[in-house]
Amino acid sequence: MAKIKFLTLARHIIEEEKKHPHATGELSGLLHDLSLAAKVISLEVNKAGLVDILGFTGDSNVHGERVKKLDIFAHDMLIWAMDHGGHLCVMASEEEEDIIHIPPKYNIGKYVLLFDPLDGSSNIDANVSIGTIFSIYRRVSPAGEPGTLEDCLQQGFKQVAAGYVVYGSSTILVYTAGNGVHGFTLDPAFGEFILSHKNIQTPKKSKIYSINEGNYLYWHPGLKKYIKYLQEEDEQTGRPYTGRYIGSMIADFHRNLLYGGIFMYPADSRNPNGKLRLMYECNPVAFIIEQAGGKAIDGKQRILDIKPENLHQRVPIFVGSE
Ligand code: AHG
Ligand code: MN
Ligand code: MN
Repeated sequence: MAKIKFLTLARHIIEEEKKHPHATGELSGLLHDLSLAAKVISLEVNKAGLVDILGFTGDSNVHGERVKKLDIFAHDMLIWAMDHGGHLCVMASEEEEDIIHIPPKYNIGKYVLLFDPLDGSSNIDANVSIGTIFSIYRRVSPAGEPGTLEDCLQQGFKQVAAGYVVYGSSTILVYTAGNGVHGFTLDPAFGEFILSHKNIQTPKKSKIYSINEGNYLYWHPGLKKYIKYLQEEDEQTGRPYTGRYIGSMIADFHRNLLYGGIFMYPADSRNPNGKLRLMYECNPVAFIIEQAGGKAIDGKQRILDIKPENLHQRVPIFVGSE
C-alpha cells in the first residue's frame, strides 16, 4: 500500500508557529478553537434538512434582512467556542449590532475576532454551499482592559489572520496568517481537518466572472460596458468569458480562488455602497486573495487600505485574479 502522508490543521498551525521564534502559541490556540466551532457548525449544516432548524426565526438582523435559524446557531456557536479561550479581548459578528464583550475572567487575550457566522444563508434551504468567514486582529487597546470598538475598527492590512469555512460537497477550511493560503478538508469519519490545498496561488488569468446580473439596470454605465466586454467574442483574449454566480459570496470566492476569475459586488444606484460588509466579508477575502497572488479593490482603492468607519459598513468589491 502506498504510504499516505497527511497533515492535520492542528499540526500545521504548530509547524507554522515554529517558524516565528517569538510566537506565544496564542494565535494557534485561537485558530484551533475556531476549527472546533467550524466542525460543530458543519455538523449542524449537514443535518439541517433533517431537524426542525430550517425556516426563518422571524427576526431581522441589524441590516434588516431576514435571519434564518442556522445563522443564529452559527453565531451562538462561535461565541460559545471563542469567548473563554483566553485568546481574545473582544469580538464582533455580522449578526450583532454592537461589539461582543468577553467575560472578564477570560478577557486577557491580545486578539480581536470578527466573523460572518453564516454567509449565503439565503441558500440554506436549497442545499447550496454556505460558509463562515473570520478575521483576526491584534488589539490596540491596553492589555488587561476590556476590548473596545477601536480594536474592531482596524484597516484590513492589519489583519493577523483571516479565513473561511465552506460547507459544500465537503467542508473545507482555508486560512492565511500572512504566510500563504492553506486549505484543509474535513474528514467526516474522524473529524479532523486535513491539509488538502497547500500554499494556494490563484491563477493570474481565468475566464470566470461572478456578479448578480439581475442588478444590471442599476449599474454604473462603465460596469455595464465591462460586463458586455466580457461577453463579446474575441479569440485573442479568450472571450466570451463564462458566468458563475452561486449567491454565497464565500463559495463563489472559493471557486474563483481555485479556478481563477473575478467576483464582483459593485455599488449600484439602489445600493451606493454595494452589499457586502467590509469587516466580515471584504477584508478577510481581500487578505486571502492578496496572499494567493490576486487583488481586491472597491473600484477605486485597495480593500485592505479602507479606513473603517463603523462595524457593519458596506463597500463595493471586485476581487480575484490579477
Ligand atoms: P449573508 O448570508 O451573510 O447575509 O450574505 C449574503 C451575501 C453574500 O453571501 C452573497 O454573495 C450576496 O449576499 C448575494 O446577494 P444577492 O442576492 O444580492 O446577489
Ligand atoms: Mn455574508
Ligand atoms: Mn451572514
